[in-house]
Amino acid sequence: MSSQNKIAVVTGGSRGLGKDMVLSLAKNGLDIVFTYNSQKEAAEEVVKQIEELGQKGIALKFDVSDSTGFDEFTETLTSELQSQLNTDRFDFLINNAGFIHYAEFGNITEEQFTEMENVHLRGPFFLTQKLLPQINPFGGIVNVSSGLTRFATPGFAAYAALKGAMETLTKYQAQELGKRNIRANVIAPGAIETDIMGGAVRDNAEMNRYLASQTALGRVGLPGDIGGVVAFLCSDAAGWINAQRIEISGGSNL
Ligand SMILES: NC(=O)c1ccc[n+]([C@@H]2O[C@H](COP(=O)([O-])OP(=O)(O)OC[C@H]3O[C@@H](n4cnc5c(N)ncnc54)[C@H](OP(=O)(O)O)[C@@H]3O)[C@@H](O)[C@H]2O)c1
Repeated sequence: MSSQNKIAVVTGGSRGLGKDMVLSLAKNGLDIVFTYNSQKEAAEEVVKQIEELGQKGIALKFDVSDSTGFDEFTETLTSELQSQLNTDRFDFLINNAGFIHYAEFGNITEEQFTEMENVHLRGPFFLTQKLLPQINPFGGIVNVSSGLTRFATPGFAAYAALKGAMETLTKYQAQELGKRNIRANVIAPGAIETDIMGGAVRDNAEMNRYLASQTALGRVGLPGDIGGVVAFLCSDAAGWINAQRIEISGGSNL
């Protein structure tokens, strides 16, 4: 018996945007495999919330920055899919996991650059390549970029350059995978209140006010602004949306 529900694999689903993506996808009737890096308890809580929505939820520990672990992750993912969802394939891959080293171009170290490169470009690039044979036709890839690729804010040169590379990669994925009926799109959130950068957007009142003042809708984003868009991109209604960068920023820095 094969699973009737579509299945999404989301990296970094334990907190922040990824958690909202996972719950929004579950509300849309998808079963979910998501990863966490360090926050096991938070991940277990998310599994419970997925189950309360009537869907299957599987949390796997995974470090997206370490490609030496990708074979083992693929094996674990496959055996969990087989044992819990009666399939070895899935429909949507959402490359979300990430963190930020905040440093201006003149100060960022090669080590900091490499750490971000591993999480934001190399990791998603080769993880997607590895998992590609398991993505069903009429499924898709959603990559996560940032509003910071469109406008320049001091302190994000390396981060934004890496996110820009993911936007370019998304176009190539859409072009090359179209023949397999796999779509690729990239979302570009504006500043959102999450734990990223020590929770600065949420907890630094001055920063929060400034970012809100630069946003047409007059506030910063919340995780709940993001997941529904990803769930839409992973639905049949979005079946003709391909190779797009979709900014979700309330109209910031226009
Ligand atoms: N928040 C924003 O303003 C904003 C704006 C634009 C784009 N983004 C992007 O959105 C994505 C999610 O950010 P967020 O704000 O939701 O961050 P967050 O609240 O800090 O959550 C980060 C998530 O990524 C996971 N993670 C971090 N490093 C990892 C690694 N090496 N391997 C695997 N998983 C890892 C974390 O797992 P644990 O919980 O286990 O640590 C967590 O699930 C990132 O790609 C970020 O660049 C964020």
